[in-house]
Amino acid sequence: EKGGYEHFMLKEIFEQPRAIGDCMRGRLSANEGRLVLGGIREYANKLVNAERIIIVACGTSWHSGLVAEYFFEEFCRIPVEVEYASEFRYRNPVINEGDVVFAISQSGETADTLAAIELAKSKGAIIFGVCNVVGSSISRISHEGAYTHAGPEIGVASTKAFTAQLTVLNMIALRVAHQKGTITERRYHELLVELENIPAKVEKALKLDDQIKAISERFQNARNFIYLGRGYNFPVALEGALKLKEISYIHAEGYPAAEMKHGPIALIDEEMPVVFIATRDSSYDKVVSNIQEVKARKGKVIAVVTEGDALIPQMAEFVIEVPKTDEALMPMVSVIPLQLLSYHIAVMRGCNVDQPRNLAKSVTVE
Ligand code: M6R
Repeated sequence: EKGGYEHFMLKEIFEQPRAIGDCMRGRLSANEGRLVLGGIREYANKLVNAERIIIVACGTSWHSGLVAEYFFEEFCRIPVEVEYASEFRYRNPVINEGDVVFAISQSGETADTLAAIELAKSKGAIIFGVCNVVGSSISRISHEGAYTHAGPEIGVASTKAFTAQLTVLNMIALRVAHQKGTITERRYHELLVELENIPAKVEKALKLDDQIKAISERFQNARNFIYLGRGYNFPVALEGALKLKEISYIHAEGYPAAEMKHGPIALIDEEMPVVFIATRDSSYDKVVSNIQEVKARKGKVIAVVTEGDALIPQMAEFVIEVPKTDEALMPMVSVIPLQLLSYHIAVMRGCNVDQPRNLAKSVTVE
């Protein structure tokens, strides 16, 4: 059942090219300029005309929500608030009739997310569900939505569900932006083509496995890790840190790279591994300065960069090169080495990767 892999998590990491492909199948054809989401019909215009979007989720799904915030704001020019479901539901949030709420959940059973959308629905909000498990509670209570079709995810650490969520949310944002006219035809088509290329790029990123195993050996005994990124790669930093802490029990923090100077920089010494997600995008130069700040304090830099980067390899101890893609789609590629890094470190430390202590696959208690 593990298809020859030692753990479900590793199998699911390697399934991502297929999972992302399945998620796009029948929905996207760059050739024909077609993007059809069967589950978003009756309420599609509510979404197109929304004055704001609220996204509720927990854990890794919340990180997908953060990336989606950037999609919807950049492409659709709709303001987005991304909320931890558990905070949203208890603070008497402002929800108006006709507000649009997205609930993102792999399992579709997370108690806090379910309760948050029940609350929003009772106030007249329109709920779009992005779930992996077909027929799950969240998918049933939502007005409309789109499944991620990633297939069953058994490992407690979410991997393929994350990249499939990003795929779906990206398709939704592009579909809305196209109808609204907030994206140029050219960029729309470029992104459709790039989306279709993502499975092949993820496949290529998976070939880094041996290199990442070697890096994992070097850092398996670290007591702390910091993950830094900016823009679309900021949520990837959070996700990398979450993956590491939940399965290897190493304390890790994810931060937007520029926030480092407001506190966490005090943690940096020659013992501290700092993972930078530093691919070529609009914040590249800024991230390079942040790497210099860490180097000046003797931190050990592991950098995820775009293939062919000539500058960062002169600065970082370890460089992981991922294929180039549009910056909006980069999280689907740049997260792959971070998933592998946490996996290998956890295995080396003898941890129960598929069922980490104190955790359940779906958190059905609040
Ligand atoms: O099933 P959901 O996506 O609603 O689950 C949300 C979180 O419990 C989940 O993402 C959790 O953080 C994972 N263990 C992360 O790998």
